[in-house]
Amino acid sequence: MARSKKVCSQTHAIHTGVYKDNQYNSVTTPIYTSSTYYFNSVNDPPPYDYTRTGNPTRQALNESIAQLEGGHAAFTTNTGMSAILTTLMLLNEGDHIICGHELYGGTFRLFTQVLSKFKLDFSLVDMTRNENIRAAVRHNTRLIYFETPTNPLLNIVNIEAVVEIAHKHHLLTVLDNTFMTPFLQRPIDFGVDLVLHSTTKYMNGHSDMLGGAIVTREKEMSERIFFLVNALGTGAPPFDAWLALRGIKTLGLRMEYHLRNAASIVDFILGSKLIKKVFYPGLNKHPQHELAKKQQKGFGGILSFELDLNKVDINLFFKNLTYFHLCVSLGGVESLIEQPWSMSHAAMNEKARLAAGLSPGIVRISAGIEDSIDLVTDIETALNAAKL
Ligand SMILES: Cc1ncc(COP(=O)(O)O)c(C=O)c1O
Repeated sequence: MARSKKVCSQTHAIHTGVYKDNQYNSVTTPIYTSSTYYFNSVNDPPPYDYTRTGNPTRQALNESIAQLEGGHAAFTTNTGMSAILTTLMLLNEGDHIICGHELYGGTFRLFTQVLSKFKLDFSLVDMTRNENIRAAVRHNTRLIYFETPTNPLLNIVNIEAVVEIAHKHHLLTVLDNTFMTPFLQRPIDFGVDLVLHSTTKYMNGHSDMLGGAIVTREKEMSERIFFLVNALGTGAPPFDAWLALRGIKTLGLRMEYHLRNAASIVDFILGSKLIKKVFYPGLNKHPQHELAKKQQKGFGGILSFELDLNKVDINLFFKNLTYFHLCVSLGGVESLIEQPWSMSHAAMNEKARLAAGLSPGIVRISAGIEDSIDLVTDIETALNAAKL
């Protein structure tokens, strides 16, 4: 598969999509809050006429993300969920979608409780096995939707293999790249058609806005997504777009710290007798460790582990942490911790959570960019305080 000529680098993160204002010579993109723009005459429209359709601050962010992901274009939205919803609006009544059985809980809810009402049919499969994907293809299948690494157990799906199956059956491929960011994984280089983000997470990185992105591979798809974002009104608000644009400038640097801290935490918890299992693609014994090495440029800033609930009181553990906030979400500069069973994946019914391999003892960490030693000591102290 031909790689995109657009590269992902710190230089591009800082310099692409920056609209310097030439009235005051600003070096950063201003926030254009205007909802509407004046025409000089009916035959002489401005470059943007109405912010739902287009906005200079949003456009700067779109260009930045398209560059980093190596896409033809990017369209930023007001949340990650609206990026997913907008993309699924490419489909028609009666279409069938194959998706991972271990997805972000909100995505599962959108698919099974909302879109299914509009006669879209979903098959949830363990996508770490290519034969499951092949077996799920039907005459009306139109799209394969997946996350890799999966959330929260960090299984790795073979992107090239999914694309190959999709091409054979003329299916669209959609990959939520929120966990990795283009600094660690560029799905378009593997032939994926649409790459999604919750920019709320690493892309912005400061836990202070909500947003999403849809990155396209080809012009025709860009036109279809542009149409849908305008028709549905899901475009990113200017202020949130500006925050994400600012956050992206340090994305590469932040990712280095997230990776370093996740690896340090993993090193420490591997030695704990209070922890039954560690889920992290960087471990040699992780079932798809080699694949992760091949398709990712790093193992990521997220890790999960299973506490032995016979030996630890999970609530006391959370209460005794100083630097980890008990929160859903991920990808911010501050370390976050959560119980997927009752928090990020509560939108999945119990049967679906069990099928995805979840249990109440599983804890997910989003490693922030604090000093590693403080994070490791914090976990050690809290585990000791929560021993039964
Ligand atoms: C992997 C993933 N995709 C999508 C979303 C939805 O994003 P948002 O909360 O910005 O709507 C989330 C939210 O946690 C997520 O973790």
